[in-house]
Amino acid sequence: MSELPPSSGWMHESVMLRECLQYLRLLPGMTVVDGTLGLAGHALAMSREIGPNGQLYGFDWDEAMLQEAARRLTDESVAPYELVHANYRSIPDHVSGVDAILLDLGLSSVHIDTAGRGISFRNEDEPLDMRMDLSRGEPASALLNRWTASQIERMLKDFGDERWAKRIAEKIVERRRDKPIRTVGDFVQCVLAAIPVAAREKRIHPATRSSQALRIAVNGELDELSEAIEDIARCLGPDGRMVVLSYHSGEDRAVKQAFRRLASEGDFEDLTKKPLEPSTEEVQRNSRSRSAKLRAIRRKNGHEGQREDDLG
Ligand SMILES: C[S@@+](CC[C@H](N)C(=O)[O-])C[C@H]1O[C@@H](n2cnc3c(N)ncnc32)[C@H](O)[C@@H]1O
Repeated sequence: MSELPPSSGWMHESVMLRECLQYLRLLPGMTVVDGTLGLAGHALAMSREIGPNGQLYGFDWDEAMLQEAARRLTDESVAPYELVHANYRSIPDHVSGVDAILLDLGLSSVHIDTAGRGISFRNEDEPLDMRMDLSRGEPASALLNRWTASQIERMLKDFGDERWAKRIAEKIVERRRDKPIRTVGDFVQCVLAAIPVAAREKRIHPATRSSQALRIAVNGELDELSEAIEDIARCLGPDGRMVVLSYHSGEDRAVKQAFRRLASEGDFEDLTKKPLEPSTEEVQRNSRSRSAKLRAIRRKNGHEGQREDDLG
């Protein structure tokens, strides 16, 4: 079990909720999947649309989040629901022929603010763990203490587009010769030591890119993501719709490629040639929505393109 506090005061504003619902076109009685349940904001909105005759499936790989979501769904869900503690990549093992699937790939505000797992670079005293699912994988500190400088550099470049990747990797290797990297602060100090003050971006903390990269690596967030999205979309039934919210270029690229491949086969219609972005008002209200990109796809019903009198 994770060390997240058993509080129900956690807050997370659901990103692009109105747009998600517009694209999903939910109706009473539908079966829907929320692959990234979080605090169940989107899920509760979906449950209201599908009503008591619908069915909601919710996935989250973080057990503490799932428990908090369960509490909220027990109190407020209109639709019956089933929760699964698993990676959303396992959706095809659990469901098929569903009417709607939502993936909100962002970090929950809970992870950033309160998780105690070193996910935010601001919490310098926390152990540098970063795992979302504490029941598997290795903490970030173990990777940084084991990888070669060139492996660290590759990770920072590939997952964070970090210009100073080589210097940061060298600083990490230099520092761990004295003592192992253990806390968020140990990592952030290496990043700060590597990036010249004059070259730092004003808009974001100097460790933003590196810590995003490390989190993606620790959790395998981009590993074969495009193929996984494609497999998940195949769980839709006729006329079923899937919406994916992504928050950085690597994720959006994977979603775009998956949807293009599916559309090119003829069975699916790509509903968003260009991704949708949140409104200015939403970004002002909730700065965490600022990098969101929404893409949507629909599975065709098998009758499209036929003349009406062919349909029998
Ligand atoms: C941005 S939050 C979702 C917020 C939610 N849509 C809401 O409105 O409350 C993303 C959630 O997805 C979970 N998550 C991220 N990647 C996952 C994965 N590969 N499999 C399962 N859950 C994942 C995280 O633990 C987190 O709780």
